[in-house]
Amino acid sequence: MLNFELYNPTHLIFGKGQIEKLPTLVPQGAKILLAYGGGSIFKNGIHEQVINNLKGFDIVEFGGIEANPRFETLMKAVAIIKEQNIDFILAVGGGSVIDGVKFISAAVHFDGNPIDILKKRIMFTEGSKVVPFATVLTLPATGTEMNSGAVITIEATQEKLDFGGSAMFPKFSICDPTVIASLPKRQLQNGVVDAYVHVLEQYLTYPHDGYLQDRIAESILQTLIQVGPEVVENPTDYALASNFMWSCTMALNGLIQKGVPSDWATHMIGHELTALYEIDHARTLAVVGPNLFRVMFETKKGKLAQYGKRIFNLTGSDDEIANEAINKTVEFYHTMGMQTKLSDYTKDFEKTADFIVTRFEKRGWKALGEKQNITLEKLQTIVEMSY
Ligand code: NZQ
Ligand code: ZN
Repeated sequence: MLNFELYNPTHLIFGKGQIEKLPTLVPQGAKILLAYGGGSIFKNGIHEQVINNLKGFDIVEFGGIEANPRFETLMKAVAIIKEQNIDFILAVGGGSVIDGVKFISAAVHFDGNPIDILKKRIMFTEGSKVVPFATVLTLPATGTEMNSGAVITIEATQEKLDFGGSAMFPKFSICDPTVIASLPKRQLQNGVVDAYVHVLEQYLTYPHDGYLQDRIAESILQTLIQVGPEVVENPTDYALASNFMWSCTMALNGLIQKGVPSDWATHMIGHELTALYEIDHARTLAVVGPNLFRVMFETKKGKLAQYGKRIFNLTGSDDEIANEAINKTVEFYHTMGMQTKLSDYTKDFEKTADFIVTRFEKRGWKALGEKQNITLEKLQTIVEMSY
């Protein structure tokens, strides 16, 4: 196992009715920016619950953080925080609102042009001057409620870039599984697949001696396979909802990544597809991931075989199992309502591989993956196979 440090200061409050704990969690006397998205929290009553539980606090509201949050929108919130001396931010929403709030938190006191946080991928380590923030999660998927990363889109240049650092952990996150009742089917499907791919990015590398991390990763995959198809149909079933939500958090709160290699190339390529065509994040992963496994088969086949045996109970030679495991993965994505070709989402796809390769080359991203052997040539093939 590789050496590692585990640091995760987020206070996670999980379960039914936990939004009631807000007044004990928010710092007393804080002036709060309440940040949210396009309005789902008004329809499902979460806004009301939050406001009722924050009576007596000075609250300024900032709505309209879009899915795939935009730098341009977030900078408006930065201005409000500065003008109104706000000292705490509460994100109420899914990954986009929470990631957006991470950016706002970092940008307020940033000494320089805030766009550089993204362009130069600034890391905000513990002790950096940021505005403290917390979250009420409304969409299980990204794990952002308990990690220190964020992905932000720059509208002007159609770039989707990440940043983070240990100062970017939420102070607390309230995860009430009953909030998923109002989620559209498409978002529930997205959540299951995003979390599933988060596990694969940290698990489907090469065989190593992180036995426990492998077993934890596999148990998250198995749980998602068990509850995923059902929770989409029955989001009010608490057993399904709670296991779904906790699996999503566990998939990307840093735990399964400790001491083991990780890949993340599927995400890097997927982010481009969202930036270019506005395809839902999870859906881009279902398009790219299986083709990346095919192109990187020699590197990944040992782990693909383990995955095939342990998750899908496949038998045969390791090569056969590894190949079939990719097919089973695609089948699962289809069960979860994903389409797995870029041409299912856009007719305008022919230049995508050239565009992404040129972009990655300019950024110096010439060697991706757990063995840094996803070259620009391989990248080209992966994207072309995804058409
Ligand atoms: O904006 P509102 O009106 O709230 O509606 C949202 C949005 O339209 C809606 N929604 C959220 N909770 C709801 C609800 N509708 C009804 N009932 C509820 N309880 O769902 C839509 C999608 O929301 P969004 O936040 O965009 O989805 P998700 O949580 O999947 O987040 C995706 C974003 O997270 C980033 C993605 O790139 C994307 O920008 N990611 C962040 C990561 C991280 N920080 O660690 C990791 C991920 O890999 C991912 O890249
Ligand atoms: Zn993701």
